[in-house]
Formats: sequence, C-alpha cells, structure tokens
Amino acid sequence: MKPIKKRARASAPGKVILFGEHFVVYGKPAILASIDKRVYVDVVARSDDRVTIKSNMGFKGTFSKHDLENVKEKKFRSLVQPVLAAANDAMQEFDSSTGLDLSIRAEFPHAVGLGSSASISIATIAAVGSLFGKLSKQKICDMSLDAERIVHNNPSGADSAICTYGGLMLFDKSSGASPMNSKIDMHLIVVDSGVKRITGKLVSGVKKLRESNAELFEGLATMSSSITSQARKAIKNKDYAELGSLMTLNHSLLRRLGVSRNVLDKLVDIALKNGALGAKMTGAGGGGCIIALVNESSRKKILREMKNYDAFVSKVEHKGVIVEN
Ligand code: MEV
Repeated sequence: MKPIKKRARASAPGKVILFGEHFVVYGKPAILASIDKRVYVDVVARSDDRVTIKSNMGFKGTFSKHDLENVKEKKFRSLVQPVLAAANDAMQEFDSSTGLDLSIRAEFPHAVGLGSSASISIATIAAVGSLFGKLSKQKICDMSLDAERIVHNNPSGADSAICTYGGLMLFDKSSGASPMNSKIDMHLIVVDSGVKRITGKLVSGVKKLRESNAELFEGLATMSSSITSQARKAIKNKDYAELGSLMTLNHSLLRRLGVSRNVLDKLVDIALKNGALGAKMTGAGGGGCIIALVNESSRKKILREMKNYDAFVSKVEHKGVIVEN
C-alpha cells in the first residue's frame, strides 16, 4: 500500500508506576499514571526504501529494508531497536515498504524508568500508521508490546497500556488495563537520580531471586498486592496522606526485593524529610527516578532540596497517544 499522506506527527506520554512494579510481571496488580511529558515522532514518507532516524536522545542512523526485516535478530543500539521494530510493525500492518524519515523528540530522559521505550514505540506506530490509515488504541498498544518484547525480558505490558491510554490505571496481566476514574488531583515530583539502567537486567535479577528464594518472593508479592489494593481505596477516597504512606511502604518492599540503590533511598529520604506525603522509586529501579507525592506547601521546598538533580513536577495526563496531523 502507498501512503495516503506524506507526513504525520504523533506523540505519547511517559509514565510512572505508583504501585506494584516488578510483581506485575508475575500477575500481581499495579497502579500507573501517565505524566505530562511526551515523546513526539514526526515521520515523512520517502521515495526509496531507506529508514532514517534522528533523535534528541543520543541515537540516530540510516537503515535498509533488510535491517527492518531482521530487527528482531540484529543487534542495534538500545533505542534504535524499538523504533525500527515499531516502524516495521506499522508498515507490515498496511502491507507497505515505503522508506521513512523519523524524527524523535523526547521531553524526558530515557533509561530512567519513565517509560521512554514504550512511548517511543507507541508514538512511532501511531505516526507511521497514520501515513496509511487509522489504527485503534488497542491495536497500537498490542503492537507496541511486540516492540517492547524485543527490548525487555518478558514485559508485563503495563508500560504499553499506560503510555497508550494515559490517565490513572489499574493493570494486571490477566485483566489488562482498567482506567481509575478518580478525580484525585495528584502532584508528583519526579527526581532523576542520573543513574541509567536497563529494565531487562533488573527484571532478570528479580527472576533469579524468585527462583532462588520462592518463599521470600511470594511473601513480598502478597504484600505488594495488598498495598496496591489499599492504594486503590485511598485513591477512591482522595486520601492523600494514606496514599503517600503506602508509597513509602512500597519503597521499603522494593528495597527488600533488591531493586533500589543508595541514591534512590537517599532521594526518598530527602523528599520525606522535606514534607512529601510519601515517596518511592518508580519502575524497574537500579537507578532511574523516584517519585514523591507532594502538596502545595512542600513542593517548592522539595524542588529546592533536589537542586543537584533533574527534578520536575507532574500531574496525571489523560490523553494518552495522540495523532496530531
Ligand atoms: C518497568 O517499567 C516495570 C517493570 O514492572 C517491568 C514490567 O512491568 O514489564 C519492572
């Protein structure tokens, strides 16, 4: 099929995991929120079959049709792979082999637990797909999970779901995503520790722990489910104090799981000492970001205390993936 338009732009939000990371891979529930920072993908159809990528995230390149077709087997630099896989999936969906110029701009850093690989692949699929026709959100989400499988070991699908649909969401592997239609007005401070990490490696580490100490893992998993279930109630009741203390409790659990590290514990402490209602690492851990639930009075103080780190305030964004033209 030939493109029905020459250029398109789509975007998808980043995400934070409020509760249940890692255990969600093993079927336990998680609560996620999308943040108000996005990845934008601009695509222009070419007259040959080359694919070029440029980005503000430190990766770029020119690729052949052969590269695209063998994206699962070949080794590419980290983020090139989900982009090529996503573009290839979208092209296959419309039975096309048109060349593409892809330009990617992220408003948040990658490899820090904010869902960059999911939002890049979602925005890429949506942009490339819209050159040819219309893809439903469900289809975009399913296709992005395919791309995620190349990058991460055994992804739960939670990141793809939240970055596609946006908002505040309960997710588990068997029932998928359920929007939480709460009117809660959460302000989160997201602080990047500056330590990059690879999600797949951390997920593998947890798998090893589960294999070597099943009893400990099951105990922690049961606790994670219980915290998540109490957090659902706190969100429904708009009980910010309770929500915050559950976040801090969830951080202790993740420490015991072995996925936190000193710098994350230190940032959580700074946030709590300066008035956060609760704080925790978010995502795979091993580095990356912490999130702190804050109110009006503590926000400025915490941001000041975090001046040596990249930190920003985010609200929950509700739009999810958007095709912009
Ligand atoms: C990564 O953002 C979240 C993990 O729970 C992995 C996953 O859900 O696939 C660590």
